[in-house]
Amino acid sequence: MQLQQATGAAGEYRLLAWREGELQLAFYAAPRLPTLDQGLISAAFCAPPADAAGRFALLAGCSAQGNDAGRIICSCFGVGETAIRRAIEEGCDSPAALGAALKCGTNCGSCIPELKQLLLTPATA
Ligand code: FES
Repeated sequence: MQLQQATGAAGEYRLLAWREGELQLAFYAAPRLPTLDQGLISAAFCAPPADAAGRFALLAGCSAQGNDAGRIICSCFGVGETAIRRAIEEGCDSPAALGAALKCGTNCGSCIPELKQLLLTPATA
């Protein structure tokens, strides 16, 4: 069985191919050099992410825990929780408003449920 995830935004293309839970291919292309955690991507071939959040983060090319950007919520545009929370604090009150401000949720839409959840839950820190 083979599962593939693909996304493209603003000329960026990212593809992961899975076979029986093992990563077979990781492909990233963009008009300019994308920022990727190459160590994380290499390690995923030996120890694939255990959950969907980890797989989406890998698709974005970074850790599920993220960095200053927080954990990656929108893998299409590499938008992290920190920026989304900041946009909510500044008045974004819907996924459409977040999309207008940050582009998150405006491509494949798979992050929209998580955007809705962030709109409903206050930051914990
Ligand atoms: S993950 Fe595709 S639009 Fe957010």
